[in-house]
Amino acid sequence: MPAFIQISDTHIVEKGRLVCGASDTNAALRNAVASINWRRPSLGKIDCAIVTGDLTDNGTAEEYAHFSEIMAELNLPWIAIPGNHDNREEMRTAFGSQDWMPDAGPIQWLRDFGPFAVLGLDTLLAEAHHGELSESGFTFIDTMLTDLAGKPLIVATHHPWLHCGIPEMDADNLRNGAIMMELLEQYPGDVRMMSGHVHRAVTGKVGNILCQIAPSTGHSVHRDQRENAKHALTLEAGAVTLYMWQEGSQSGLISDILPLTTFAEPVPFQ
Ligand SMILES: [Fe+2]
Ligand SMILES: [Fe+2]
Repeated sequence: MPAFIQISDTHIVEKGRLVCGASDTNAALRNAVASINWRRPSLGKIDCAIVTGDLTDNGTAEEYAHFSEIMAELNLPWIAIPGNHDNREEMRTAFGSQDWMPDAGPIQWLRDFGPFAVLGLDTLLAEAHHGELSESGFTFIDTMLTDLAGKPLIVATHHPWLHCGIPEMDADNLRNGAIMMELLEQYPGDVRMMSGHVHRAVTGKVGNILCQIAPSTGHSVHRDQRENAKHALTLEAGAVTLYMWQEGSQSGLISDILPLTTFAEPVPFQ
């Protein structure tokens, strides 16, 4: 059955650097790649990895080269959309030879997995932390929703529309997400959103749409609901998310968060 692994918010920096002087995102992605490769034999067929933005921390050519170098070890092809920490043109230059990369405009694509499809959208707005879907993004999604004619669909964006309950992140979400949700609400098939940006595994419904936000391979955004809490990163264990289609009486998509830790061989139940 078709399946993919969502990797998000890898925030790669130049070799030897740490994000905020504390988070070794380069080591975290190397660990993620090793962990996915190690788990692969037990996961069945995986078609690809989908990277939902913030591939790099500063969007430089050096950082994209370093991202490529680490991802070359992954035993899976991968496709990506940009996040607010990316630079669209540097990303296009770095990955221009990939079949999913458009020659110009937003980095958006459709990947058909057979029983379902993933629509990757570009919500990067230069110089901003929050996201917006461009006019051509709306045209693209409109066309694709018509063409897909009700096929089960995941809409992938870096910026989520779902509020996660961390005020600083909710202020920097997909600002025109409400218009997109209206379009999705009219879709005749099963549709869900899959995003990144928050560096936490958060799930909720907006209207009828299931919205899933992915953990990062590296640091998390700290959840501290106390008043006057400082907006901060934490070095919680990173994770990736497995999405797989299952057939049978509950035919459809399921997801499973895979922590990027190592553990002993499974112990058979007695
Ligand atoms: Fe991020
Ligand atoms: Fe982000």
